[in-house]
Amino acid sequence: MDDSMNNVIEIKDVEKIFGDNAVIKKINLNVREGEFLTFLGPSGCGKTTTLRMIAGFENVTRGTILIAGENVENMKPYQRNVNTVFQNYALFPHMNVYDNIAFGLVEKKVKKSEIKERVNEMLTLVQLSGFEKRMPSQMSGGQKQRVAIARALINRPKVLLLDEPLGALDLKLRKQMQVELKHLQRKLGITFIYVTHDQEEALTMSDRIVIMNNGNIEQVGKPDEIYEHPKSKFVASFIGESNILEANIEKIDRDKLTAIVESGTITVYGKNMAIEEMVYISVRPEKLKCSITPVDGFTLKGYVKEHIYVGSIIKTVIELPNGYRLKMNSMSGTKLLDIDQLVYVYWNKNDAVIMRTKEEKIYNIIENVPQIKEVGL
Ligand SMILES: Nc1ncnc2c1ncn2[C@@H]1O[C@H](COP(=O)(O)OP(=O)(O)O)[C@@H](O)[C@H]1O
Ligand SMILES: [Mg+2]
Repeated sequence: MDDSMNNVIEIKDVEKIFGDNAVIKKINLNVREGEFLTFLGPSGCGKTTTLRMIAGFENVTRGTILIAGENVENMKPYQRNVNTVFQNYALFPHMNVYDNIAFGLVEKKVKKSEIKERVNEMLTLVQLSGFEKRMPSQMSGGQKQRVAIARALINRPKVLLLDEPLGALDLKLRKQMQVELKHLQRKLGITFIYVTHDQEEALTMSDRIVIMNNGNIEQVGKPDEIYEHPKSKFVASFIGESNILEANIEKIDRDKLTAIVESGTITVYGKNMAIEEMVYISVRPEKLKCSITPVDGFTLKGYVKEHIYVGSIIKTVIELPNGYRLKMNSMSGTKLLDIDQLVYVYWNKNDAVIMRTKEEKIYNIIENVPQIKEVGL
């Protein structure tokens, strides 16, 4: 089957320029029917702008957006088969819950009896049955956000766009709403495009994550792919914690590469690398190990500097001779190394990722990105 048939949204070479500021730099992305897709990136990277271009609140400067195969260039927001949920809820303050949710259908002059039926269905869906007569001012943040979601879903959009919808809620409620939203999305099978700057939220909720940085798409992938195989230094450092070493490839023996870091040698596996090539090697703190005797292939030495207790894990800081501080996590209860103890740092095959520094450029068309090389003993 033609893969493009499953794409509900196609973003092709889309750019957005405000004045002379290119805030979106030629991005390409396909959104699949029924998926929970999250745009994740630091504040100001262009998440909201991208969402607003899909919704039709903002024009594209160049490029094309297709929704369900149709070019939406000349379509007004209400003509596109999408609805948006904003962070600030944007409820009508003078209308009760029932009227807020019914609003879209009243505008479309849907029959009263059908409106009633569909509003009730939505109230059940967001667990607000019995709240019909309440005014927004009489409701909590979480309840108001549920009304906003019901109001958007009642139009039965193909795609629901959510721009940091839980940002104003306290942590406990946010966690609860994350689970509820995910269940809702599964149950309805509607495509959700979700925007957040919270990596944990993105990792928990998404089928796929789009990592944005400075108007570019850096990587698109499933949460575990993004976490285990970051394709750039930015992704490796933005998602979770990473130890990132700059290294130079000294020797190549088929896939086995010897790389030199400032204070020692490490052995890595990788394809298509060149002698003398500068690379980044990224190792997660939970994958880093150390030994008081040298380990085959590794001569990277450091000194144990600190142990920090964080509940179930202990974070150990190992300082390299050049001053770079590596983080190593171990389970509480593990025997701790002495402070100032000399150790050799190493890791297991496949537990580190090697990234080209010269490919520290941006990947626009993710499908064409070369495979990540893995590092190992
Ligand atoms: N209407 C606008 N006019 C000029 N610049 C804008 C406008 N909207 C957004 N920007 C700029 O575009 C960049 C991306 O903004 P935005 O999409 O809101 O980022 P995010 O949602 O990721 O925090 C920012 O630098 C922001 O200042
Ligand atoms: Mg935003």
